Amino acid sequence: MDRQIVILGSGAHARVVHDILLACGEGQSVAAFVDVDGDGPGGASVSGRPLMSGLDEFDRYIKTHDVTAIIGHGNNSRRRAIMGWLDQRGMEAGNAVHPSAVISPDVDIAPGTTVSAGAVILTGSRIGRAVIINTAATIDHDCVVDDFAQLAPGAHLAGRVHVQEGAFIGIGAAVIQNLTVGRGCVIGAGAAVVRAAPEHTLVIGVPGRVRRQL
Ligand SMILES: CC(C)(COP(=O)(O)OP(=O)(O)OC[C@H]1O[C@@H](n2cnc3c(N)ncnc32)[C@H](O)[C@@H]1OP(=O)(O)O)[C@@H](O)C(=O)NCCC(=O)NCCS
Repeated sequence: MDRQIVILGSGAHARVVHDILLACGEGQSVAAFVDVDGDGPGGASVSGRPLMSGLDEFDRYIKTHDVTAIIGHGNNSRRRAIMGWLDQRGMEAGNAVHPSAVISPDVDIAPGTTVSAGAVILTGSRIGRAVIINTAATIDHDCVVDDFAQLAPGAHLAGRVHVQEGAFIGIGAAVIQNLTVGRGCVIGAGAAVVRAAPEHTLVIGVPGRVRRQL
């Protein structure tokens, strides 16, 4: 039985993950997408691949197929839930790392994470489970990005930044060195974060200021 890849998700991020797998030469192994939310585009396929109508259908599928699941969902909370679903079944999620990403050899990337085209991750950094490092985002030396967090396209972390679980760094935002972005924070597009961001806050602007609690 050949090993197949199934992308858990059916929206835009799922198609981005598919693009990454194509660039890696793994396009032929992608057997299907899964509409994990049950509110997908309808229709029977995504990017020319069959679309399963939910995790129940995928659950039946894995009983008879050798599958690597790759998480293709852009919502941090949903990725946490999907990872929990896989954990319950003893399945480890695969990674999707674009070949144009520049990643230092000592960087540790946990399962279920995607790294998009042009991203850079430098020495000593650790990236958690089911994280998204999106297009052309950069992570300098010795950063820690915890599980289910996300860097949007063109976001930048200076050295020794800690992005805690489930935080979202918006498109084009930057975080200066040695800071912590707290669990569940949202950093707005284009923000310049120059002070630690308390947990579950929305930070926007240049310099970044807490706009409200989340
Ligand atoms: C910060 C953000 C989350 C706020 O969303 P929101 O709560 O729906 O806010 P609104 O759009 O209602 O705007 C509220 C106010 O904040 C301002 N604002 C919104 N985003 C801002 C930002 N990034 N920086 C500065 N000000 C911002 C708006 O202009 C508005 O100002 P006003 O009250 O003076 O009119 C959102 O605008 C944002 O930046 N999201 C990141 C998107 C992103 O990175 N996407 C990448 C996907 S891969």
